[in-house]
Amino acid sequence: WPSGARRTSTGAVAIAGVDLVELAATGTPVYVLDEHDMRGRARAYRDAFATASAEVGTEVDVYYAGKAFLSTAVARWMHAEGLRIDSATLGELTTALRAGVPAADIGLHGNNKSDEEIELALTSGVGRLVLDSLPEVARVADAAARLGVRAPVMVRVTTGVHAGGHEYISTAHEDQKFGLSMASPDGEDSPAVTAVLAVLERTELDLLGLHSHIGSQILDPAGFGVATRAVMGLRAEIARRTGVLVPELDLGGGFGVAYLPGEVPLDPERAAKEMVSALADVGRELGTPLPRLSIEPGRSVVAPAGITLYTVGTVKPVRTEDGTVRTYVAVDGGMSDNIRPALYGAAYHAEIVSRVSEAPGTRCRVVGKHCESGDIVVHDVELPADVAAGDLLAVAVTGAYGRSMASTYNLVPRPGVVAVADGVATPIVRRETVEDLLALDLG
Ligand code: LLP
Repeated sequence: WPSGARRTSTGAVAIAGVDLVELAATGTPVYVLDEHDMRGRARAYRDAFATASAEVGTEVDVYYAGKAFLSTAVARWMHAEGLRIDSATLGELTTALRAGVPAADIGLHGNNKSDEEIELALTSGVGRLVLDSLPEVARVADAAARLGVRAPVMVRVTTGVHAGGHEYISTAHEDQKFGLSMASPDGEDSPAVTAVLAVLERTELDLLGLHSHIGSQILDPAGFGVATRAVMGLRAEIARRTGVLVPELDLGGGFGVAYLPGEVPLDPERAAKEMVSALADVGRELGTPLPRLSIEPGRSVVAPAGITLYTVGTVKPVRTEDGTVRTYVAVDGGMSDNIRPALYGAAYHAEIVSRVSEAPGTRCRVVGKHCESGDIVVHDVELPADVAAGDLLAVAVTGAYGRSMASTYNLVPRPGVVAVADGVATPIVRRETVEDLLALDLG
């Protein structure tokens, strides 16, 4: 639960002093975001990485990965906490700019950037464009030449380290769409080296750095160390061949969070230690000055700060194949506001937050209101046996990739987002209405 969550004397839960029963009176489902909790996590990344970097004599920039959840309010909070904004699309870039974040503090990613995205990035003067393919080197250089500007760029490389969940795997082969492979099995230049050489040939491009992102929801930091060493090796190879010592390495995001009670998140200090000590080790071995560092956490900054608040509707006991009974608890949202259980089999925890119950726990599955049986919000959770229509149910750790991946399936309007802080609830994204959806319908 967000750090501001407490049971009040009525038995209801309040977050940051805002009673969820009162908040629900303005409509459910709704995403609730604990502003101080999210800001605190942003500071924790900034401080942990700044401390670790300072110990080895380098510096760090922390970019908040807007794909996890971005609104203008969130962009302002993150910038106020000293973070920059990582965008991956025109929508994210425009939102960060509209929030008043200086373009120099924004990065643009994307494996298939549109002309419009490249142009906005260059004309607004973003701090960096992360190049993802060889054709993009030429596209961005040509666009910069046409617009009469210089383009600060990074080259995204793939180290063969893929991480996520509890493990990482390291392979020589890449069969996915992102970045430029560092592997050169036939002895020729790797795609990563080829792209870096192409960047250095174009006078419109400033090579700021190399970028590596190895995965998401990573709990074991070892993969970060392996990837860091690999990219440091590439930096040294480029220096040997061209005399150019690339000034910065971005080691991406992917820091894992605890979705269920008892799970242990990857804390920023451990992640920082793993990355920075790998950086320093290789720097020492090769005798090269250390690069500046940047990282791009998304999920770990916003997921635990957010919950989704639903109202319980139909409650139905269902006999399962093994003869036992499972209670299906249907809520007023579902896979349209959280696709992660259906898409990834993601596990979540839920509780009744409108009252305290003395009833024994019973095995439940929280489902939504959509027209398919895969519309599951929480696969397995124990709820009080007297769970009933009208109860408020909160699902924890939904701040990341919930609203940002929401759909309007079944023409269900998307929930709004309410920020809570110091006893005050402030809507930061308006709840969509059926009229909003019909406004797109041209008849
Ligand atoms: N940087 C890059 C280049 C990325 O591709 C990503 C995530 C991040 C940073 C932020 O990663 P994070 O710290 O949030 O793990 N929809 C999926 C997650 C997709 C992540 C894609 N890239 C989910 O709901 O689990």
